[in-house]
Amino acid sequence: MTVPANEPPFSPGLAGVVAAETAIGLVDGANGRLLYRGYPIVEVVKQGTYASVVDLLLTGEWHPGTVLAPAPVPPMVLTALRLLPASTHPMDALRTAVSVWGANAGLPWPPTADQARELIAFAPSALAAFSRLREGLEPVNPQPGLDLASAFLQQLHDEAPDPATARALEAYLMAGAEHGLNASTFAARVIVATRSDLTSAICGAIGALKGPLHGGAPAEVLGQLDEIGTIDHAEAWAREKLAKRELIMGFGHRVYRAYDPRAAALRVVAENLPHRPPWLDLAIGAEEAILRVFAELKPNRVIKTNVEFYAAAVLQGVGLSPDLFPATFGLARLAGWSAHVIEQAAVDKIIRPEARYVGAPERHLPQANG
Ligand code: ACO
Repeated sequence: MTVPANEPPFSPGLAGVVAAETAIGLVDGANGRLLYRGYPIVEVVKQGTYASVVDLLLTGEWHPGTVLAPAPVPPMVLTALRLLPASTHPMDALRTAVSVWGANAGLPWPPTADQARELIAFAPSALAAFSRLREGLEPVNPQPGLDLASAFLQQLHDEAPDPATARALEAYLMAGAEHGLNASTFAARVIVATRSDLTSAICGAIGALKGPLHGGAPAEVLGQLDEIGTIDHAEAWAREKLAKRELIMGFGHRVYRAYDPRAAALRVVAENLPHRPPWLDLAIGAEEAILRVFAELKPNRVIKTNVEFYAAAVLQGVGLSPDLFPATFGLARLAGWSAHVIEQAAVDKIIRPEARYVGAPERHLPQANG
C-alpha cells in the first residue's frame, strides 16, 4: 500500500517521538545520567529516604525530613485480596488492590499530591497482606513509627527488619521511583489525559509494568544466573543466547547508551547488604563476561547493564521471593507515576496519535439475495 505524501512519519515503538514535556525526571541516555527534579540519582539514593523522594517528585522540593506513615490495608481491599486464588500473580494482586481502593475512595478530578500520598502509603501494606494470605497466613498491620520500606518488610515477615536491610530496600525504592516517559508512565499519562482518575491511571501503569520487557526482568535474572552456574561458563552461555537470538535479561535499554546509573547505585547497595547474596560474586563476574560478548557480537548497538540486573541482587538480599520483584518495582514507581499523572492532568490535553492503515482497501459486502 502506498503511503500518502502528507502522512506524518511512522515511528515503530514511538522511538524518537517527543510526546510530553516534563519537569520531573531527566533520563540522559547518552551520558548515563538520571536526575530527579534536577538532582542526580546517586546523591538522592545516598542521602534521601523514599518518603523524601515521593515528596520531591510530587512537589519539586527537597525536604529530607519528610515522613510518610505506612497505612493499614482498608477492609474492602483486604476482602478483595482474600478472594484471590493463591496462584494470583502479585502484580495482579497489586493492581486489584489499587483498583478496589480507588473504587472505594471515588477520587475526584484532578489528581492531587495528597491522593497520591494516600495511595503510596497503603499499597506496600496491600502487597504484603496478599503475600501472607497466599501462604495461608493472616496479614499484620504496619508497626507505628516505621518508614514505608521497613513496614513493608515487617508486614511481609511479621518482624521488623534490621536497619541495614530496610535501608537497602529503601535505596531500591528510591532508585526505581522515576524514569521519564517509559512504557508504564506513558500508559498512566494516556489514561489520565482523558480526565480519568489517579487510580485508573495507576492500574494501567501496573498492567504495562507487568510485561517481561519492562518490569518483569529481575526475577528472570536469577534464573539466568542459575543457568550460568559459574563465572567461567558465563561467556559461552552469553554467546549461545545471542546465537539463538534470545534476550539476556538485565541488559539493554531503550534510552541508555551508557551504563544505567541506577544499576551502578544498586550494585553498591548489593555489595553492602548485611546478608550478601551467595551468588553476587557470580553476578559481578557474569556481568563482565556478558558485556564483553555484547560488545563483540553487537558492535553497532551499545548494550549495557540495566537497573534490573542489580535490582535482583538487592531484592533477593532483603528477603523477597522472586515473584514479588515486579510488584515491588511497582511500589517504587508509584511515586513517579503519580507525579506524571498530576503533571499530565495539568496539561489537560487528550493524547491521541494516529495509526497508518495497512488493511484492505475499501471494498463492499456481497449483496444479500432477494
Ligand atoms: N539481549 C539480547 N539482545 C539484545 C538485548 C538483550 N538484553 N537488548 C537488545 N538486544 C538486541 C536486539 O535483539 C536487537 O538485535 P538485532 O538488531 O539483531 O535485532 C538489538 O539489540 C537492538 O535491540 P532493540 O530491541 O531494538 O532495543 P530496544 O531499545 O527496542 O529494547 C529493551 C530495549 C526492550 C529493554 C531490550 O534491550 C530488552 O529486551 N532487554 C532485556 C529485557 C530487560 O532487561 N528489560 C528491562 C529494561 S529496564 C526497565 O524496563 C526498567
